Amino acid sequence: MTLLISSFQESKKLAINVAKSLKAEYTEIISKKFPDNESKIEFSKNPSNKTVIILVSFAKDPNKKIIETILAAGIAKDYKANKVILVATYLPYMRQDNHFENYDGMSAKKILTTLSNNFDEIIVIDPHLHRIKHLSQIAPNASSITVNKLIEDYVSKKFSNFKIVGPDEESQQWDKSIAKDLHQHATILKKTRFSSTHVKIASKNIHSPNILMIDDIISTGQTLLEAIKIVKKQGAKKVVCIGIHGVFANNSDNLIAKQAQLITTNTIPNKYAKIDVSPVIVDALRKYS
Ligand code: R5P
Repeated sequence: MTLLISSFQESKKLAINVAKSLKAEYTEIISKKFPDNESKIEFSKNPSNKTVIILVSFAKDPNKKIIETILAAGIAKDYKANKVILVATYLPYMRQDNHFENYDGMSAKKILTTLSNNFDEIIVIDPHLHRIKHLSQIAPNASSITVNKLIEDYVSKKFSNFKIVGPDEESQQWDKSIAKDLHQHATILKKTRFSSTHVKIASKNIHSPNILMIDDIISTGQTLLEAIKIVKKQGAKKVVCIGIHGVFANNSDNLIAKQAQLITTNTIPNKYAKIDVSPVIVDALRKYS
């Protein structure tokens, strides 16, 4: 079985690392533009007769990236790839996992279904699963992998005597699991969201000089900024925030970095990415190499 790892330019570094570890070939997927702004997608190498992995971080311009990823999968199929597998290092739209207001979209279902119709298999790194517990509830060919162990390794090497705090209830699947493996207790805060940029977090008795907060997605940063206010009011001197997916809408990284030490994984390439997720991708793909 010949494995071809491919990616768009923004995920090239991570995809090349994965390809090297699996001793697989790498190819870049080139995105060009037609004059009317339509995307023109090309593979740099022939995907024929290969198991083609398309590794995508959808964070930068997610709408365009979804279209371009579907077009790339179409090319691999047209050229008779044996199998076409999507590795979504970050999968957008997953937080809209219900109809929250009249006639709004349950985007998690629609986007994952659309992607799954174009791939033989979908592997997603730490998707935002809340009301929906498993990706397979939406798409039977989709599954998730987690970078929790990599975060644990990083934390145990770099930080000691830190109290783990989850900034909201949705973060507990990461904070509690990481805290448990580090033989600690995680305090989970309760958040109410009023809008994309307005959240309120209820205070809890935390009182610790060193705080470690772990969340899956950092978008506007409001969740972490509110949680940081609470722990600082109670005397925290050092706050470390670890985000799996640094989306950083509205340059929120600058705001957080003024208040705390900010660290992310490289599911979305950014300057705070210190935790390399390639080992979990390699493990998930080893059966194809
Ligand atoms: C949602 O509950 C997620 O776990 C994150 O807490 C949320 O996406 C963060 O969003 P923001 O940075 O915009 O507050």
